[in-house]
Amino acid sequence: MKPLKPREPTLQKISGKNAVNGVKATNTLGEITEDKPLLSVVGVNVAFAKKGLDALGVTDDLLDPLFKAGQKDDAFALNDKGVGATKEEFKPDWDEAFLQENQEIHGVFLIAGDSFDTVNAKLDEIKNIFTADGTSSIADVATLAGDVRPGENKGHEHFGYMDGISQPALKGVDDVNGKQPLPGQSLIDLGVVLHGRGKDAITGRPEWSKDGSFLAFRKLPQLVPEFDKFLLDAAGNIKSFDDFLDPPTAADILGARMVGRWKSGAPIRVAPLEDDVALANDPQRNNKFRFNPESQEICPFAAHIRKMNPRKDLDKFKGPPDFVDPVDEHLIMRRGIPFGPEVTTEEKLTKTTKYERGLYFVSYQADLSNGFSFLQKSWANNTAFPPLNDPSVVPGFDPIIGQALDEVRAMSGANDDATNDSLPLSRQWVQSKGGEYFFSPSIKALGGV
Ligand code: HEM
Repeated sequence: MKPLKPREPTLQKISGKNAVNGVKATNTLGEITEDKPLLSVVGVNVAFAKKGLDALGVTDDLLDPLFKAGQKDDAFALNDKGVGATKEEFKPDWDEAFLQENQEIHGVFLIAGDSFDTVNAKLDEIKNIFTADGTSSIADVATLAGDVRPGENKGHEHFGYMDGISQPALKGVDDVNGKQPLPGQSLIDLGVVLHGRGKDAITGRPEWSKDGSFLAFRKLPQLVPEFDKFLLDAAGNIKSFDDFLDPPTAADILGARMVGRWKSGAPIRVAPLEDDVALANDPQRNNKFRFNPESQEICPFAAHIRKMNPRKDLDKFKGPPDFVDPVDEHLIMRRGIPFGPEVTTEEKLTKTTKYERGLYFVSYQADLSNGFSFLQKSWANNTAFPPLNDPSVVPGFDPIIGQALDEVRAMSGANDDATNDSLPLSRQWVQSKGGEYFFSPSIKALGGV
């Protein structure tokens, strides 16, 4: 395994609640960036692909067909780009490592830490376990390094929007010992992320797999200069808020309508009526909103966060009290991280991506066909979602991650807040370059406590 390289310059330490006395935050140039005491933190997770379990001789059925077949087998249905008109012929346009033509992916170690030094040290430690007798029993298919973006972009993905705000809370974990879910946070059954829903799913799986979760990994490069150019070109007819002291530009408004939040992370429905940065940073308020089920005047139906979590939009389809919530069963825990350098001046000037950057998307769910794969296929790629009473309005594609084989995509409600007009999305700005489905067992299953 190759050591991970830090991006230059990058923060080597974090501060805040994990702090202990004595260490200063520095960047790779050795400059002190934060005058707060710090603690070095690192964590490791291991997860297995089906081929990895096979290689270990684990024959148990984990009851997830997508996991069994692997993500490459799902690429055609996910509308990933590639060559071949049928599933059988299809070869996705993925990085070689994920195509698994020469080397199978058996598993993944996810190492997260507060600096590249701690992460590299942990990587060495793991490597040593597998090379203890002088021969290596592990082959490195790919070593991928992600990092939080530097400076004021910390916590923002590469298009510039604050990420990681809305996550579900788990019953029995996030609502015990006086803990409360945050306002607006869905409190979901633990089974949605761990066992599967209902008795059958829990009892059908082998004992060791309980308390484990399926992990979807996707490498998602983002065409940032091209995305910014589209916002500038397409925002022409959007009225800005001229009567505000610091009005957002038309491009800012269009971008917020495509994502469903301002770059600050504030939900589009409130800002810019108040200080959106303060709102974005207040966990008591930044997720406390609903959409108006039959209107996209404030937030388009196809906006990324509305497609991915329509909140109460689907309440009209709810059945009797024991009926599974049509949104809750599809919620996922997201644990992704950006990768690649910041956009360079040359890329800004030419409005063309030269250096690959994007998101290593990671999500946990009890079964992939209700989690990641469902969200991508049935909601992001589905122009008719969410279903509306007014048949004349077609919500369109999720403009951030929606994929169509022919690339002809459009969304409604983004042009101007008073209309349902369709806005052609000139291209996909996110295109998958690979991924795999894994199973992440509990610590107990791995032989821990
Ligand atoms: C939320 C960006 C890929 C599912 C968000 C948010 C941003 C964002 C800015 C708002 C922050 C938040 O509410 O936490 C992106 C980008 C992606 C990407 C740039 C690709 C490069 C995906 C994928 C999925 C997904 C592949 C699943 C198929 C979600 C979900 C939420 C979310 C479930 C939370 C919605 C809510 O609860 O309100 N994403 N995302 N995202 N995204 Fe993505």
